[in-house]
Amino acid sequence: MSQGAGQSATLEELRAEIIRLGPWHLDVEVAPGLTTRAFLDAPPGTYQGTGHLDPSRITFIDPRRDVESLLPRIYPAGLEGRSFLDCACNCGGYSFLAREMGASACFGFDVREHWIAQARFLAEHRTGPSDNVELEVLDLYDLPQRGVGPFDVTLFKGIFYHLPDPVTGLKAAADLTGELLIVDTSTRPDMPEGTLTVGRESREGLMSGVYGLNWRPSGPSVMAHILQWMGFPDTRLAYHHEQTGRGFGRMRVVAARRHGLLDAFDPVDRGGGRARPRRLRRWRVARAERNRRSGATGDG
Ligand SMILES: C[S@@+](CC[C@H](N)C(=O)[O-])C[C@H]1O[C@@H](n2cnc3c(N)ncnc32)[C@H](O)[C@@H]1O
Repeated sequence: MSQGAGQSATLEELRAEIIRLGPWHLDVEVAPGLTTRAFLDAPPGTYQGTGHLDPSRITFIDPRRDVESLLPRIYPAGLEGRSFLDCACNCGGYSFLAREMGASACFGFDVREHWIAQARFLAEHRTGPSDNVELEVLDLYDLPQRGVGPFDVTLFKGIFYHLPDPVTGLKAAADLTGELLIVDTSTRPDMPEGTLTVGRESREGLMSGVYGLNWRPSGPSVMAHILQWMGFPDTRLAYHHEQTGRGFGRMRVVAARRHGLLDAFDPVDRGGGRARPRRLRRWRVARAERNRRSGATGDG
């Protein structure tokens, strides 16, 4: 697509460009009736023979559902001018949504040009607001030297388990975060609680890290320890799905620098006080039972 086509591009031109830039990981609306999902209609063979571009290796998800199930619980009135940091932003889908939810400015970065090329296309052509949304190629480990921030809210989704040193990586983001940090990661629920488990991964896969080494936490208590050490004393488990069908689990932990922000996660007990979130309690019981049966030891 010629540069500067901007708003004047026809739907057919936009559709062709979506296919050219594919495969996509995030479903983002480009124009009424047209989303990045259009790449799924690419003629058979479009992405074949390109190895790591094989779309069957890339999950395709709707970020709107994800964000709308979480952020309004914490910020019922929207982001109200808060700044937003999107680590490993992929095509920037979460940043564009944050902007729509009232963020004043968003900064997203991803190590792969493939995804940032998509982000540039979206910034230029989507009908939703893209002003003050900056998306660029950057390695997480270079974030401290980049000279951006601080930010009110940070999304650290799908990146913890693609890093050779995830604590240093997460700290780079945490140090720039003033209010809320959301960590969404793959887990190893089969391992004793309190552990990080090492693994190997492709350096080339579009959804992968670039270092070949990775670590997965066993569950929420590992993340709570790490986040508390980073200056986020208040953490809640949004969910931990222990059966994802691939041998890994998936969890989302939200962390706040100050108490009170996450009260919406705490069911009020009959006595008027706060009860421990039910999911976390159920999860701990199930984990303790499994560890007991397997003879594993953990920190609870
Ligand atoms: C599983 S995808 C998650 C994408 C997105 N955050 C989401 O949750 O939908 C992992 C992303 O991390 C990016 N990535 C991997 N290693 C990175 C690094 N060291 N710095 C920045 N981005 C990285 C990949 O290019 C890919 O877009």
